[in-house]
Amino acid sequence: MRRKEMKMAIMKRPDKAPPRMATPEEIEAQRIYTERVRTALASLDAPKACVVTYGCQQNEADSERIAGMLREMGYAYTSETAEADIIIVNTCAVRDHAEQKALSITGGYKHLKNKKPSLIIGVCGCMVSKADMSDRIKRSYPYIDMVFGTEMLWRLPEILYRVMSEDKRMFFPNLGEPIVAEGVPVLRESGYKAWVSIMYGCNNFCTYCIVPYVRGRERSRRPEDIIEEVRGLVRDGYREITLLGQNVNSYGKEFGNGCDFADLLARICEIEGDFLVRFMTSHPKDASKKLIDTMAANAKIAKHFHLPVQSGSDRILREMNRHYDREAYLSLIRYMREKMPEICISTDIIVGFPGERDEDFEDTLSIVKEVGYDMMYSFIYSKRTGTPAAEMPDQIPEKITGERFARLIETQNAISLTRNLPYEGRDVRVLVDGRSKNNPDKFSGRTEGNKIVLFDGDDSMTGRFVTVHISEAQTFALKGEVITEK
Ligand code: SAH
Ligand code: SF4
Ligand code: F3S
Repeated sequence: MRRKEMKMAIMKRPDKAPPRMATPEEIEAQRIYTERVRTALASLDAPKACVVTYGCQQNEADSERIAGMLREMGYAYTSETAEADIIIVNTCAVRDHAEQKALSITGGYKHLKNKKPSLIIGVCGCMVSKADMSDRIKRSYPYIDMVFGTEMLWRLPEILYRVMSEDKRMFFPNLGEPIVAEGVPVLRESGYKAWVSIMYGCNNFCTYCIVPYVRGRERSRRPEDIIEEVRGLVRDGYREITLLGQNVNSYGKEFGNGCDFADLLARICEIEGDFLVRFMTSHPKDASKKLIDTMAANAKIAKHFHLPVQSGSDRILREMNRHYDREAYLSLIRYMREKMPEICISTDIIVGFPGERDEDFEDTLSIVKEVGYDMMYSFIYSKRTGTPAAEMPDQIPEKITGERFARLIETQNAISLTRNLPYEGRDVRVLVDGRSKNNPDKFSGRTEGNKIVLFDGDDSMTGRFVTVHISEAQTFALKGEVITEK
């Protein structure tokens, strides 16, 4: 499908209509397929499944659903592809690099299939949800047994059963009919931190971004289903719940039932228990004062706001189709700091958007300095075929984007350190993640503001809140000693 037709297909549902829910019969059909796979697997000795994930938290959450379905079908989980009887690769398409990586890794599984011909290989996620990708894989990757788009994930039991029983390759690309399917089992990687998708898809069509084309139209889950899920997680001892959506601020718009994102947050905070709520991502055009007031009023909402600005230049923001300008963005930041002086703020920035001039980039540097972010995720613009920006004139040469990128990082690193220094001598509450990956003789955790803290600890602390006295602030982390365990 061409981009225009794809956009038409995505946009055809009226704006206010609630999403289609998978019917109880459709969910039951998947349960029956699950049983059939389970029966078919009974002859195998301890079949194992491996899910390999690229991309954002949304993909991580999806992979936990995939793993949950596979477990119900009778697979044990392994993180070793060489041991697996089924490998599912959940791909990302946001930048070219992510796509190349997924393709080359998947290519590498060919030799596993040569060694074990019964191995089933599936590919899903954003990269294979691009128009034509399913066909490309069908033609060029004969060892891939199944491909399913982001909207088809909940039908994995059916897809897998058909691969097994019909001995045929299965291709289930997105059809542009977004659906919300409740009741899909989840196998969570962590026992104390949980992802909860509150909505799927994106309607924003920022001109650089592939996500709306691969994740389909924005659709929200019902508040009661989300609250039930969070209540269950808190009951099971989860300490941190991260609500996920491409633009959580537009949550619930289709229902028109008076429960917007701020209301949803407030209702989640009414659940009893010692837990923190996080959310991502917020689009500045829809971030409301009501949301900020709700954050300020609820101790359970972590005082961290990830508010991607993308660029500091009004001209570029317009070209990006972001629907806010520098001043509107800065006024949100001022309101946030007024209501929550302790708030930690992070952002995403794209360097080298087509037509970005030196003065536009200077505007980006100046907004970064003006806001004083605690943390920044910066990206060099990557051309995504099918998006409007890919066809814009004046694509910026690599040499220039590279130089700007380095300057941006250097500027932010100095700011990060300045933002961390006041923590020296303070006591902060930290949820412990376990042994630090980069620094294995230390333990690591995160503050409410999402800052990394390193300290001496032991395994019993993992998944619990501790109080750490900060003795040293660095650019990317705070260091200290645990003073109380709670
Ligand atoms: N929905 C979220 C972001 C999802 S993608 C939001 O709107 O904030 C995460 C980040 O990837 C974006 O914020 C953007 O900074 C970056 N990104 C998206 N498309 C990109 C592209 N084509 N090139 C470089 N970075 C990109
Ligand atoms: Fe992409 Fe924009 Fe949607 Fe975020 S809001 S996923 S950047 S189109
Ligand atoms: Fe990548 Fe899809 Fe997320 S494109 S960033 S995995 S929504």
